[in-house]
Amino acid sequence: MNQKRKLRSQAWWDDATNPEMTALYLERYLNFGLTREELQSGRPVIGIAQTGSDLVPCNRHHLSLAVRVKEGVRDAGGIPLEFPAHPLQETGKRPTAALDRNLAYLGLVEVLHGYPLDGVVLTTGCDKTTPSCLMAAATVDLPAIVLSGGPMLNGYYRGRLAGSGLVIWEARRLLAAGSIDYREFMDMVAAAAPSVGHCNTMGTALSMNVLAEAVGMSLPGCAAIPAPYRERAQMAYATGRRIVEMVHEDLTPSAIMTKAAFENAIAVASAIGASTNCPIHMNAIARHVGVDLTNDDWQRVGQDVHLLVDCQPAGRFLGEDFYRAGGAPAVMNELLRAGRLHGDALTVSGRTVGENVASAAVANRDVIRSYEDPLLRAAGLLVMSGNLFDSAVMKSSVIGEIFRDRYLSDPANPDVFVARAIVFEGPEDYHARINDPSLGIDERCILVMRNTGPIAYPGSAEVVNMDPPDALVRAGISLPTLGDGRQSGTSDSPSILNASPESAVGGGLALLRTGDRIRVDLRRRRVDVLLSDDEIEQRRRSLKLPELESQTPWQEIYRNAVGPLSTGACFEPAVRYQHLVQLRGLP
Ligand code: FES
Ligand code: MG
Repeated sequence: MNQKRKLRSQAWWDDATNPEMTALYLERYLNFGLTREELQSGRPVIGIAQTGSDLVPCNRHHLSLAVRVKEGVRDAGGIPLEFPAHPLQETGKRPTAALDRNLAYLGLVEVLHGYPLDGVVLTTGCDKTTPSCLMAAATVDLPAIVLSGGPMLNGYYRGRLAGSGLVIWEARRLLAAGSIDYREFMDMVAAAAPSVGHCNTMGTALSMNVLAEAVGMSLPGCAAIPAPYRERAQMAYATGRRIVEMVHEDLTPSAIMTKAAFENAIAVASAIGASTNCPIHMNAIARHVGVDLTNDDWQRVGQDVHLLVDCQPAGRFLGEDFYRAGGAPAVMNELLRAGRLHGDALTVSGRTVGENVASAAVANRDVIRSYEDPLLRAAGLLVMSGNLFDSAVMKSSVIGEIFRDRYLSDPANPDVFVARAIVFEGPEDYHARINDPSLGIDERCILVMRNTGPIAYPGSAEVVNMDPPDALVRAGISLPTLGDGRQSGTSDSPSILNASPESAVGGGLALLRTGDRIRVDLRRRRVDVLLSDDEIEQRRRSLKLPELESQTPWQEIYRNAVGPLSTGACFEPAVRYQHLVQLRGLP
């Protein structure tokens, strides 16, 4: 192995020109048993960014996977050092884990930049852990590799598949309809979480880990392996081995996460029916690594790519089935053969995407369809604009057949959807008033949620997927929704979400009133309120922006620095810091 290049860590631990600082940096790392020989041997020092803990059950088994990572690092001649990342449990953090994505990002940037590390293993899993880790690796540009934790085993309730995050929408409908009680509600939801691991549906976690693989940042096949499978621990070992080689090769995130690699991720997103949180996170990662990626790229590259994977929420199956059917490599091979991937994009394996997936076969055609016989054609995100916002997205694979056929797929049908707006000021207002009969909500309404963007509801709330009033739920009617917040990656409702700019900074949704008519033209990807320009102008003049009250210092800092969802909800001041390791001239 080539050990001639002086490694970055040696600037801390073996600098003969500065014995004082070297001794100071060195001695404390000896106090738990490491030796001077090891630390001054010029062997790569590999950080393991540990995102799992008792507070982050989705990633908790990374605590044991890290043992196998360390064995891999050691066997390849490196020295592993594990350290904690800021906890990011999607279902545990109030007001929302999204608020802390940028906090974990900033924390990890400081660690990677300020400690004697030559490379890092990013332990990913639960929704925001994957983007925060990749954003930090992108900023620092130190050799980095993703080890996902994998989905939980399939959940079952009364003999039927129960997908985590998704079963709750069904349980809610059943509870509203009076078909189950409180206890059955809890049992039903808990049945979807049968083992360690992250959500077993194609929600944000599995989507983002598949995209981390698609963008080249994990070893091929990593994303789909269920958390408890032996292959998961074997992948941990291989990942530990590989990062040591990557340090010797100086293979950094900026060499892997190129524009072509992100375009691959977008195509894969359409094929798997990825979460609507993915464009936010992938755009953010791209900005931090210096690649220009916008929602328009998602429309251009992704919208006409077919849905191949039959996983909930867009389809029927769960993570275990996806893994057994071939996982991400099998999907990517389908896309490659259809000419929808850049096969020459480099990956952490040291090989190209084309080389990685060439022999990946689909083992179950019910779960992963061929490109010629997809589940749904042209199933990517629709990127919308209009006089209410500059950019919003709609997940066309989950909007329902009637909606899709009538308003989107049939070019001979000129129908557009015109609906009466019912405007809610936030989730609390929605819960208080949704069943108020005086609103007269019927199937010609669109439910609008505002004050839920990254600044208003700091981090932005996953609340745009609103259920209609109970009476409509009982009649099996779902309504389109529109909002400046997000929706859960496991949601299957016809929603137009992530509308940017958000209402709290004067975005068009702020001007809307209940009773306004909104015209949704899916084919032209336009959403417009049917008001004259004069009326809009008049409303804008009398608009009062809400006073926002922060509950913690971080919320205030976040609100002052965060950008819109359309460009990744990045910290704007952070985006200009790129390639930190190289810029500092450290070896
Ligand atoms: Fe953690 Fe879904 S809640 S992955
Ligand atoms: Mg979520």
